[in-house]
Amino acid sequence: MDKPKVVLGVSGGIAAYKACELLRRLTESGHDVRVVPTASALHFVGEATWSALSGHPAATEVWETVHEVPHVRIGQAADLVVVAPATADMLAKAAHGLADDLLTNTLLTARCPVVFAPAMHTEMWEHPATQENVATLRRRGAVVIEPAVGRLTGVDTGKGRLPDPEEIFEVCRRVLARGPQSGRDLAGRHVVISAGGTREPLDPVRFLGNRSSGKQGYALARTAVARGARVTLVSANTALPDPAGADVVRVGTAVQMREAVLKAAADADAVVMAAAVADFRPAEYASGKIKKKDGQEPAPVALVRNPDILAEVSADRARPGLLVVGFAAETDDVLANGRAKLRRKGCDLLVVNEVGETKTFGSEENEAVILGSDGAEVSVPHGPKEDLADLLWDLVAPRLA
Ligand code: CTP
Repeated sequence: MDKPKVVLGVSGGIAAYKACELLRRLTESGHDVRVVPTASALHFVGEATWSALSGHPAATEVWETVHEVPHVRIGQAADLVVVAPATADMLAKAAHGLADDLLTNTLLTARCPVVFAPAMHTEMWEHPATQENVATLRRRGAVVIEPAVGRLTGVDTGKGRLPDPEEIFEVCRRVLARGPQSGRDLAGRHVVISAGGTREPLDPVRFLGNRSSGKQGYALARTAVARGARVTLVSANTALPDPAGADVVRVGTAVQMREAVLKAAADADAVVMAAAVADFRPAEYASGKIKKKDGQEPAPVALVRNPDILAEVSADRARPGLLVVGFAAETDDVLANGRAKLRRKGCDLLVVNEVGETKTFGSEENEAVILGSDGAEVSVPHGPKEDLADLLWDLVAPRLA
């Protein structure tokens, strides 16, 4: 089988050096990559690097090897075009259909999925001109990954960093896996996903927690970005890298998670509660470390109920048409408990999976049944958590108002 053909467009920003890492990930995982840098990109990383790493010459202008008509052929042959970093100038050119070099010509001739990974200073990203260009590109079906927040060139920090190359690679992999016909069916949608497990502190060094790794929630975030959604990921106590394109809000406790989810849900189209939220928290928090006392049994730990975020979001829908999805972790009577929980929580879809000490928690794979309040019942065979995530979005997308 032919290797999937990827065009890596590189525009002129300091983050061009990170595109070398993306290029390596793509070639090492069996993709045939043509790099098309802009003239300004070559100020940051030279042609020799791009051609050596890709195994192809890296042309910038349409005037090289003209007899091969590269300005048309490269785009036509591609299975995926990814532009990383995409500067404000590149986004403007792409949105307006300008074609004054090889990359912009390639963008006009490509009929495959296109992913832009913008990187620029916060002011440029937030400027209405850039935001309108991004909205135009998204409306036309391109995946524009939200920049990450963090240190920018120089001393300033803010939104505008190129996400981790490994995470951009994951977006490319998911977009390619969905194939040329798969629409970006979550484009224009805002989805809120909770992930991980809450920790309820007893004292400054101890907490009540659970074994959730957050992998299923992160897989949901990655797949939603690849399908074009704006993603808010409310993450509790995970040790996973931020998925490219997701706005990550870190929380610790159930109460903090409730606040973050309700805030993000205000303008959301869907809320997916994949997090393992502690049902109870210690009634009292000891501000100093609890000490053992010689000859005395420990005092029992009194617990109080935590808010049920899923039930609350389901009951008070922030917007008419807001779709709410819950997860149920069950150890026995999986289906019967799942059906009862779907009714009790009042959500639209419930992903029911069987958990145990060796099942699901922390693993890369999952197996589940998705139940719908409309009677739907879809079995998800054992497989990667990303497959379950995509299947869930397949059910969510047509149900969105
Ligand atoms: N959930 C929530 N807030 C809580 C507890 C759970 O939002 N305080 C959400 C979880 O994110 C998940 C769903 O509710 O989407 C189911 O959680 P689970 O712990 O399996 O169910 P419980 O309601 O705790 O029911 P039980 O303890 O009886 O199994």
